[in-house]
Amino acid sequence: MSGARSLACQALLALEKGRAQRLQDSLRARALGAADRRLARELAFGVERQRALLDAVLEALAERGLPRDPLLRVALRLGAYQLLFLSRVPPHAAVHETVALVPRGRAFVNALLRALAAGVRIGAADPARPRREIELPDGRALVLDVDALPDPRARSAWLAVRYSVPEFLARRWLERHGDEQAERIAAAASRTPAVWLRARRAIGAAALQEELAAAGVHTERGAHPLLLRWSGGGSPFSTAAFVAGRFVAQDPTALAAVEALDAQPGETVLDLCAAPGTKATALAELVAPAGRVFAWDAIAARRARIRENAHRLRLADVLCVVDDLAGVPAVDAVLVDAPCSNTGVLARRVEVRRRVTGAAIEALAAAQRELLREALARVRPGGRVLYSTCSIEPEENEAVVGAALGAAARLVAEHLTLPDPPDHDGGFWARLERG
Ligand SMILES: C[S@@+](CC[C@H](N)C(=O)[O-])C[C@H]1O[C@@H](n2cnc3c(N)ncnc32)[C@H](O)[C@@H]1O
Repeated sequence: MSGARSLACQALLALEKGRAQRLQDSLRARALGAADRRLARELAFGVERQRALLDAVLEALAERGLPRDPLLRVALRLGAYQLLFLSRVPPHAAVHETVALVPRGRAFVNALLRALAAGVRIGAADPARPRREIELPDGRALVLDVDALPDPRARSAWLAVRYSVPEFLARRWLERHGDEQAERIAAAASRTPAVWLRARRAIGAAALQEELAAAGVHTERGAHPLLLRWSGGGSPFSTAAFVAGRFVAQDPTALAAVEALDAQPGETVLDLCAAPGTKATALAELVAPAGRVFAWDAIAARRARIRENAHRLRLADVLCVVDDLAGVPAVDAVLVDAPCSNTGVLARRVEVRRRVTGAAIEALAAAQRELLREALARVRPGGRVLYSTCSIEPEENEAVVGAALGAAARLVAEHLTLPDPPDHDGGFWARLERG
């Protein structure tokens, strides 16, 4: 499993040095067995999800602060993550494997991680000591004899470290949702999301569940009749059912947004931000066989991903990926699944917490207003536009929709879902009707 740790370490290092934008891309880079790949992913995503907390506890225990060397920092986070969050890894293995990752500073890494391991206890954290006692998974707690977290009365600062979210977001959530809800949103960003599978409508979740079980993939039924949650065993993406296009990965919140468009058999639909095509394939199933979904994405390489998915799901007759919007007729309905800050999916898009800023949210909102304007221009009079994001920020949601309303468009319904992994992601949708 040391191949997994070294791959996770390299992927995290690339992110730390700004050489990679997405963890997922660096984790694809090397050939490893399935179990190693899964562990590498679990480690890299887990570390990034808990990064501020890991740094805070390590910093509190290091007498002269944390080293500036990026490799040492990343290795320490990896070791600390295993000690605190992966109880199946024996502490001595977590320490030993981490020491092996660094060419220099081994004695320091060894001593610091041992000190951390000594603070892990069976039992609950004392809520009266929120600066030095931290609840851990599997009925354990980290009990330190120094303060590691900010004073909880400085609420946004405490949330930012405890749940590793940008402090400006914590502050906004506190202002908008109040103390309890803001903590729930922040905590959601540090939890591990589930892998949700959407069965093809013609197959249904029950038959897919049986087929996957026969291939050694365990799943649980979701509340939605098409959804299964991966619960263990082999990877669903290595099965014949996946190759045969019997399902795609899709979270319940994303599926609810597609269904809010209420696409009907025989209709024409334009998906204006379609790559990689998860929502477009759901729409294609709904309008088939006589209808059409025109799928567009501004990035040509990403349009290729929609084509792959359309072919894999045997939907290429209904789902037409277009390279030029000029030839697309006025349609019955348009989906605008806009590029956004992703603040509803911080648990999944873990690296987003490094780059999201107030200015970035404003810039995205400007692009989103433009996309919604374009959608309204491309739908027939009386047709529907479904605007959706995986952001929970009002500038990207209600405000974008509000700016589009008037004689040419009326709001039919809108819905904000706050994130709650592993049950569902956060996100927003609004359904408009063109006048
Ligand atoms: C949230 S993702 C879409 C996910 C997709 N709907 C799905 O379900 O698989 C947003 C997409 O918008 C694309 N995009 C960004 N700016 C765009 C623009 N101005 N016009 C069209 N697509 C754009 C991005 O390349 C990205 O693929």
